[in-house]
Parts: sequence; C-alpha cells; structure tokens
Amino acid sequence: MDINTGIDWNKLYNKADLFFNDRPVHIENFLPNPENFASWAKVENALNENQVWWNIIQNQQYISIPEHTTIWGERQQDKHFLKTSIDAGLTFVIDRYSIHDKFTKQLCLEIEQNFNVTTDIHLYGGMGSNLTTSFIPHIDENPILVFHAYGECEWVVYENHISHLYSRDVVNDVIKNNIDKLNPILKVNLKPGDLLYLPERTCHVAYPKEPRLSLNIGCFPQTNQYKVDKQTYKINKPGEH
Ligand SMILES: [Fe+2]
Repeated sequence: MDINTGIDWNKLYNKADLFFNDRPVHIENFLPNPENFASWAKVENALNENQVWWNIIQNQQYISIPEHTTIWGERQQDKHFLKTSIDAGLTFVIDRYSIHDKFTKQLCLEIEQNFNVTTDIHLYGGMGSNLTTSFIPHIDENPILVFHAYGECEWVVYENHISHLYSRDVVNDVIKNNIDKLNPILKVNLKPGDLLYLPERTCHVAYPKEPRLSLNIGCFPQTNQYKVDKQTYKINKPGEH
C-alpha cells in the first residue's frame, strides 16, 4: 500500500506503560490529518455503499433499523431511515468502517503490525443536539483506541478495575445502578487528532454535545508466535525487520 498514516507510534510506547502499569492514556495530536479517516463526506459515502453496517442509539440504547433484501438475497439497511435518524441528531455507529477506504485499512494495518491483535473500526458520530447522547458509563471487553476526528467531545474514564469473573453484561448492569461508586481518573476534552487508549474493561463514558466523529478501534487478542523486542517492546514480525 502506498500510504501510511504518519502516526509516530513511539508516542504511545513512550507515554503508556503497557507491560507494567496498563492505564488509560490521552495523547494530543496523535493522528495527523484526521479528516483523511473520518469526515461528513465519508459518512455520506458510507451511507451510499452497502459494505458497512449501521447502528443508531436513542435513549442510550440501540434501536432497530428496518432492513430490505436485495435481489442477491443480501440484507440491506434502510437508507432513508438512517438519513432521517442522523439528521435528527441521533448518535450513529458504523461497524466494519475499517474496510471503508485505503486510510482506514492502513490505520488498522499499522495497529495490527504494532500489537498482537485484530481490529475493527466503529465510527461514532452525531450531528449534535440534545438527542445526541451516547451510552452511560460502561466497560468493553477488549482494549480500545479512540482516534478523535471531528468536533470536540468530553470523555470521563474511571479507575475501578472490575473482575473478569463476571460477564460484561452483568458488570454493566451493576455499574448502571452504582455510578456513585466510580472514581474518575481522567477527564478529557478530545479534539481532532487526539488518541485515547482504554485498556480492556476500563469503565468510560463520552458526553457528546456538538457535532463529532471518532474512530473507536476495538482490538481483539490474537494468538501467534511473534516475539517482543525487550528494549522497545515492539513486536518483531517475520519479514518486517
Ligand atoms: Fe465503550
């Protein structure tokens, strides 16, 4: 591929202590030219192609989206419903956004070259209104890299560590009724180009108040034999060094 993201991954290795003190990390200006990866024009493109999959959030929950069947028997989401929901200011999440174009593919490729994971991008966005709420504080099962791309958005991250003896859904149900037991350790106003790294099961919440787009990249552990360089903690993959 003839592009690269321009990311200096050393900024993440230097600021995070991934092996010995895994914590949430905020790095300003991490992703150069974030508009190459997510913009309102790209959202419109995604609406007109059928390779990504949409979710709409209302009242902090996913709502059902009407679907149609194509002549080839494939499922296709109702574009008019999606457009109306976006224009009304509801938060949307585009799954499989990693395959959207050469930039999003390259971003995922670089993460997979740096770490032992597979990735997918969820593009979160909203036009901004009192309807543009996201989720309440919750955990996700795997590490997430949030690349903020448009507008500003406040995030709160909590220090509480929650046992893997309970499933994610059970944990999130308990959190919902015990928000006062959460201790914030990081409050940031993400700006375009900023990175927020969330270790697995780190409780977090976003408070979008204006039009915003962010690439939330879920990282799923991969089993392989790649060795880590003991000085830099970078992964040495066959044929890349
Ligand atoms: Fe989340």
